[in-house]
Amino acid sequence: MNESARAAEDGLVTGATLVTLDGGAGYGLVEDGALAWRDGVIRYAGPRAGLPGELAGDAIDAGGGCITPGLVDCHTHAVFAGERAGEFEQRLQGAGYEQIARAGGGIVSTVRHTRAASEDELLAQSLPRARALVADGVTTLEIKSGYGLDFDNERKMLRVARRIGDMLGIEVRATFLGAHALPPEFSDDPDGYIDAVVDWLPRLHAEGLVDAVDAFCERIGFSLAQTRRVFEAARALALPVKLHADQLSDGEGAALVAEFGGLSADHVEYTSMAGVEAMAVAGTVAVLLPGAFHVLRETRLPPLDLFRARHVPMAVATDCNPGTSPLLSLRQAMQLACTHFRLTPEEALRAATINGARALGLGDRGALRAGMRADFVHWRVRQPAELCYWLGGSLAAAVYAGGRRVA
Ligand code: NIG
Ligand code: FE
Repeated sequence: MNESARAAEDGLVTGATLVTLDGGAGYGLVEDGALAWRDGVIRYAGPRAGLPGELAGDAIDAGGGCITPGLVDCHTHAVFAGERAGEFEQRLQGAGYEQIARAGGGIVSTVRHTRAASEDELLAQSLPRARALVADGVTTLEIKSGYGLDFDNERKMLRVARRIGDMLGIEVRATFLGAHALPPEFSDDPDGYIDAVVDWLPRLHAEGLVDAVDAFCERIGFSLAQTRRVFEAARALALPVKLHADQLSDGEGAALVAEFGGLSADHVEYTSMAGVEAMAVAGTVAVLLPGAFHVLRETRLPPLDLFRARHVPMAVATDCNPGTSPLLSLRQAMQLACTHFRLTPEEALRAATINGARALGLGDRGALRAGMRADFVHWRVRQPAELCYWLGGSLAAAVYAGGRRVA
């Protein structure tokens, strides 16, 4: 599409292949398609020849290419200050992620930088990352707190997440991840820290800053019992939960988040058969994070065939963070999911759209269908598999969120 930015939430585009993802399987390809929207909601997605007369009018000519639903990045830590390239170098020389974390590096090193930044500085450092994600097709972005680890700094992060959504014209879902790591002031008292997290949550929620609650359940994070307390606090506020589960060891995190009817279990490399079964029963999405797998040079694959066999929906996200996944493209995460986890390109596209939306509890996006939000991307590709085939590059010709052009 070669028109300049549009203000209107109404529009019509023709001259591209639609990749609707409508229905349970297949790309849902519509050649020579038309996509019409009103008030930010899709009213028609189908063959141009079938466009209802009342929706006809001035059309944007896409001039070829494919249109997919907008991408949903359902797991990121994109708000942070500083970077950890030095740790990357240390790991290349043989240091382990857990070893660095235990020596006072890792997450708490980003906590130091994030605490030191003002809200405006934090926004200025985080916005380019969000812009890069949007430029490569993201129209819904989840952002976690978790580098503040005290009330004021967690609040600052969540406020920055909300401001990014307002500034970029996309929907940002803010997740409270107070239980991400133990801050130095609580180093001898993890249960006391959980008391504090449980105290902050209703106050942050009362300010409209929390859409979901997450925790890092791991031997270098929090125990099952501590995670359970965080989840109980979320349940008391009717907030949905998700979990960093079974990334470095089988901590039975997937089963716990499923027990709470959670939206997603994320990472899940070490999740057991029992964990997968619990997720299947609860309808919990498996969020695959191949960026962290790749950067940490992991070898243990998530139980992909079990997820498929038990119809556990699989999502893919960037996990954009300064330690394990400095990844600024969800399309690149899809590529990594195909190469490392052998997802098919169709599975990867569903994982980054309809299943990512489900991992955020959003049923109004992720497919091109009347009634869905008008979130879509026009790509300079002949066929959708190219989205997972090219490494890098800039394939997105135009990105629309809620019917407005955002990139
Ligand atoms: O999803 N595991 C915890 N959280 C992040 C890493 C955060 C960091 O290292 O800064 C993750 O991989
Ligand atoms: Fe993460």
